Amino acid sequence: MNKVIILAGGQGKRMKADMPKPLFRVLGEPMLEWVISACEESGLSDICVVKGFMGEMIDEYLGGRYTTVLQAERLGTGHAVMQAVPFLEKDTDGNTLVLCGDAPFIDPKAISEALEIHTQQNNAVTVITAELENPHGYGRIIRTDSGISGIVEQKDASDEQKLIREVNSGAYWFRTADLIGLLGKLECTNAQKEYYLTDTIAIALAEGKNAGAYKSENPDIIKGANDRKDLLELNTYARMAVIGKHLENGVEFTCLDGITIERSVEIGAGTEILAGTILRKGTVIGKSCSIGPNCIIENCTIGNDVNLNNVQAYDSRVDDNVKIGPWVQLRPNSHIKSGVKIGDFVEIKNSTIGEQTAVAHLTYVGDSDVGKKVNFGCGTVTVNYDGVVKNRCVIGDNCFIGCNTNLVAPVKLGKAVYTAAGTTITKDVPDYALAIDRGKLAVKENYSLRKLKSKLDK
Ligand code: UD1
Ligand code: CA
Repeated sequence: MNKVIILAGGQGKRMKADMPKPLFRVLGEPMLEWVISACEESGLSDICVVKGFMGEMIDEYLGGRYTTVLQAERLGTGHAVMQAVPFLEKDTDGNTLVLCGDAPFIDPKAISEALEIHTQQNNAVTVITAELENPHGYGRIIRTDSGISGIVEQKDASDEQKLIREVNSGAYWFRTADLIGLLGKLECTNAQKEYYLTDTIAIALAEGKNAGAYKSENPDIIKGANDRKDLLELNTYARMAVIGKHLENGVEFTCLDGITIERSVEIGAGTEILAGTILRKGTVIGKSCSIGPNCIIENCTIGNDVNLNNVQAYDSRVDDNVKIGPWVQLRPNSHIKSGVKIGDFVEIKNSTIGEQTAVAHLTYVGDSDVGKKVNFGCGTVTVNYDGVVKNRCVIGDNCFIGCNTNLVAPVKLGKAVYTAAGTTITKDVPDYALAIDRGKLAVKENYSLRKLKSKLDK
């Protein structure tokens, strides 16, 4: 079976952070995750990640999804792959893809086309290359009349070799059995005193084996980040690529200010995305919606014809024809059913809001099951937490909740219950009843005349 080794031992000193470089994020996902998903899309699932600097963070991130091995000392890319030899020896049939964990845009097309050439040419190793305007810093591909003869690193290259614009992407296909043999022959007699994986090409050729190159038309597959400025560039590049895809699908953007959409987000045609909107992983938005300005939507399913204005929503579901905002938060596990209207300064948490219910302003609904066509007066609060446990409120269809009602959970309002303004509900109320909790109103005449005598205008 074909395997993958992802090199993720690097620190990225210039990032100035205590974190392995492959864990820096592009559009919300670690660069390592982009590389892994390119493998998964290519049908490759036997993956070993070589960790080094703060390797425990890589393990924590992967959560056991894939094998990892530790490169305790950072002695070069060849040395990094050597650490994975026990992983390779489990099954030496087939081929092994080696990738860099900090080059997030490697694409499944390059992976599969390179494998095709690798197999057709019966190569021991096939390197994926691209031509760059500015090849500085990369290993240069040395071509001959019959193919390639090797890769020369920037620090070892002659002035003439430095003019070569075809460079090593850092991604290669190896025949697994040959890779194990070639690793054993690497030496560190170069400018950086490192074991270069790139030397495997010249060694294979010297042994009479075939080595080749697959040149990708897409130089972006090489892009990586050495510092924060590069990382910003990767984010900008990925962000524009994602927005470009949505434009093709009929999504409307009149400006792109502050708009960031993670790559797995789906948006229906005719939906407009307004400034300052961040759409995160797991979000699916239907057709003809208006989303923004200033929304954060994470892991939510939003129906058709939904209007969200200044809304933050997490792990929730919003059905068709719903209007929410401005300044509303939907916390996890909320389900807003069709035709609902939610207005300013409302928070909904772990609750279901039934069809055509209105929660117009200044209200907290937590841990509640709310029926259809309920009207919430301003300032309603579900008192769901007693300091020890959270309890639920149930509100039947057609209830009319008066302004400033407190519902002390657990409590149930039947169908079409009225609560009077300012009422604190502490027990269940049956269908069609009015619940009212009022002290007798006392009016003390001329009170302020006595109290504020000197301050009042005559
Ligand atoms: C390497 C290639 C170069 C290529 C470039 C593409 C070698 C000798 N050179 O150069 O030809 O153009 O990648 O980006 O291979 N890593 C480890 N352990 C180590 C060293 C590196 O895990 O001891 C990992 C890094 O985290 C990174 C990858 O290997 O993911 C590449 O290492 P890096 O130092 O960036 O390689 P370059 O010297 O830039
Ligand atoms: Ca009261």
